[in-house]
Amino acid sequence: MFDHKEFRKQFPILNRTVNGSKLIYFDNAATMQKPKVVTDFLVDFYQSSYSNIHRSVHTLSHESTQLYENTRQKVAEFINAPLPKRGTPQNIVFTSGTTDSVNLLANSWGEQNVKAGDEIILSVSEHHSNLIPWQMLAKRKGAVLRFVSICDDGELNYEQFETLFSDKTVLVAISLMSNVLGVVNDGKRIVDFAHAKGVPVFFDAAQAVVHSKIDVQQLDCDFLAFSAHKLYGPTGVGVLYGKTELLNKMPPWKGGGEMINVVSLNDFSAAPSPFRFEAGTPNIAGVVAFGKTLDFLNEYKGITEYETELTNYLVNRLRELNEVEIFSGNNTVGIVAFSVADIHPHDLTHFLDQEGIAARAGHHCAQPLLSFFEVNSLNRVSVSAYNTKDEVDSFIEALKKALEFFAR
Ligand SMILES: Cc1ncc(COP(=O)(O)O)c(C=O)c1O
Repeated sequence: MFDHKEFRKQFPILNRTVNGSKLIYFDNAATMQKPKVVTDFLVDFYQSSYSNIHRSVHTLSHESTQLYENTRQKVAEFINAPLPKRGTPQNIVFTSGTTDSVNLLANSWGEQNVKAGDEIILSVSEHHSNLIPWQMLAKRKGAVLRFVSICDDGELNYEQFETLFSDKTVLVAISLMSNVLGVVNDGKRIVDFAHAKGVPVFFDAAQAVVHSKIDVQQLDCDFLAFSAHKLYGPTGVGVLYGKTELLNKMPPWKGGGEMINVVSLNDFSAAPSPFRFEAGTPNIAGVVAFGKTLDFLNEYKGITEYETELTNYLVNRLRELNEVEIFSGNNTVGIVAFSVADIHPHDLTHFLDQEGIAARAGHHCAQPLLSFFEVNSLNRVSVSAYNTKDEVDSFIEALKKALEFFAR
């Protein structure tokens, strides 16, 4: 069973006060707090083993390189990516975050595989990070973006999805879980249908990797991206998983040190994946600390079940209030978007902050989805495995207080 009290103890920041009240951190979909083992590890790494990687034969460089490449192996195991018998998993590319991963894909795979008139399928609920890079590509190439809609329960409209395919469809690029709706999409269903049409699939798993088990072999997706900072890890580290044979066919996107085999004055040949996509000195400390984060997470079982129970509790408590309208889907995990009659989301967020509660208001980098709902702004609370039912109760009390205050 998941010991949430023990888990919570690992996060020192949760003991601080904000505006005189104990902090309740409900902005986890934006970024998560870090366990002490990870922040301690970062300091220790800089103080004991830090050096540049892959370049030198001295001991420090060897130690740093080993930790960096061990993290690649841990990431591959975490999402069950196929592992080579020996050497580096070529299917795990380190980037600076999900946004960077999508830009890599759109600029490398997209530049090579998309031409005028081709179609890419996305959904109306994409985060801007999985929309704008495709818009930029479509504008450059004269390609067309087509959009899957969502149903009343927040689920993707799978029937409409199937009607969007044509002989011009070259890619499906969809988020496995929206950062507003919180529903985990049926990735296998998406992949099976797309592959039957010969179309590859990219999943934005920035939220899904936090609240569900990702198994890329079971999903059989062609590409998948996520960020370390949303998964209790450091900022500035992201992952692009891709099938090795696809990555090795893609041209490098950024040029510089470490991504080459041979260079002459007028030409270069690219190293194999993942190095062809990791030009320049990467976020070495961030990556190795992400390895420590994955070790930490692997010690806990039952996180998703706990988060599901906590989210259901939160949704049920919100439903007690007539003034609240919930926009997230029925099967949401971790994320609940809602509006409160007569209180602007920003006013509510300020009010909650005075009570020590960190929540979120705005368009959540998903303006097309908010337009779909015909609203400009929504409240969002997002819970993680260190949050508790007591915190949900305190939040509901604060919400009732806000309703009284703004009714005056
Ligand atoms: C679904 C989704 N995709 C992409 C991103 C972008 O992630 P990052 O800012 O870490 O690159 C986010 C961040 O909120 C997200 O929720």
